[in-house]
Amino acid sequence: MRVLGIETSCDETSAAVLDGSGDDVALRSLVILSQDVHRIFGGVVPEIASRAHLTAIVPVVERALADAKVDAVDAVAVTNAPGLVGALLVGVSYAKSFAFARGIPVLGVHHMEGHLYATALEHPDAVPPFTALLVSGGHTLLLDVEAWGRYRLLGRTRDDAAGEAFDKVAKLLGLPYPGGPHVERLANASSAGSFRFARPMLRRDQTPTDSDFYDVSFSGLKTAVLTAVKSANLETDRGAIARAFQDSLIDTLVEKTARAARQFGRGRIVLGGGVACNATLVATMRERVAHRNVQVYAPSPRLATDNAAMIARAGLFHLERGERSALDLNAFASQPIPGLVAA
Ligand code: KG4
Ligand code: ZN
Repeated sequence: MRVLGIETSCDETSAAVLDGSGDDVALRSLVILSQDVHRIFGGVVPEIASRAHLTAIVPVVERALADAKVDAVDAVAVTNAPGLVGALLVGVSYAKSFAFARGIPVLGVHHMEGHLYATALEHPDAVPPFTALLVSGGHTLLLDVEAWGRYRLLGRTRDDAAGEAFDKVAKLLGLPYPGGPHVERLANASSAGSFRFARPMLRRDQTPTDSDFYDVSFSGLKTAVLTAVKSANLETDRGAIARAFQDSLIDTLVEKTARAARQFGRGRIVLGGGVACNATLVATMRERVAHRNVQVYAPSPRLATDNAAMIARAGLFHLERGERSALDLNAFASQPIPGLVAA
């Protein structure tokens, strides 16, 4: 089956063409147009994002089809939740029209399920069963993935997402948006020690029946950074604060993910979402589970951040099971990931 994927949930207009069946897939093309305009405002402005998607969607899809050197596809998979509704609607409306005009099926895909499939596009072994940590600008989810389409939600953030915490701390440190890569660069250039922040929701005496065994929370950490910034000299301490923040956030995520892999006996950990670009997160995760021979897989930065290839890949799984969306497919700001099984 050949699938056209479309992603417009936030500030990337993206289209991709993918061929395959089951876990045997080949990515034929991937076009990602990032909306630079939001940098001026220090964050994504929803109405500007929608308008930019409208301008970009036709050329982006045409370029993806041309790059793939194909005239026809068998189906269209489009992100329809969660995200900015106006932005999502551009992709959803275009996907429905594209499919209707050609008499081919269209399928709505959950954005976070897309992030779950991104790593499998590059690593044939990043397939279930595995423990998944999805860390993006809007979500932080810890899942046990028994099989594609069967997801046990173990933990999530109770307030800010991991990427959001990076972006807010970047703002406090006077760094540009999106802040994740800037904070990482600064942190890696500084040594640990002069600042230290408590590890949020992390205690040794937690047990799997405690509600905070897997959940995370980053708003307290953000406040700790704010307090430190107020009493520090940013010119000299910026790097040390970034380092202390990143160490604390990563320690928490790594420990909770390692707990999940151990409890469910998984030999693989798959990372996804924009924060999975963070090389220190990936390296720390690998070190933490190396003694148990657990393999850690992370997507390359192009596939970790928002892209349509992962949407086509997740869509392929559902399309092959015969799933289709009707032409009243709509966009939703938030929606539970499909296929959740009881914890
Ligand atoms: O998955 P994504 O592209 O978009 C959403 O679905 O939200 O994730 C974007 C997030 C932003 O918050 C950005 O700051 C963060 O990923 N990010 C990083 C890094 N690269 C991107 N965070 C930490 N370290 C990085 N190297
Ligand atoms: Zn995303």
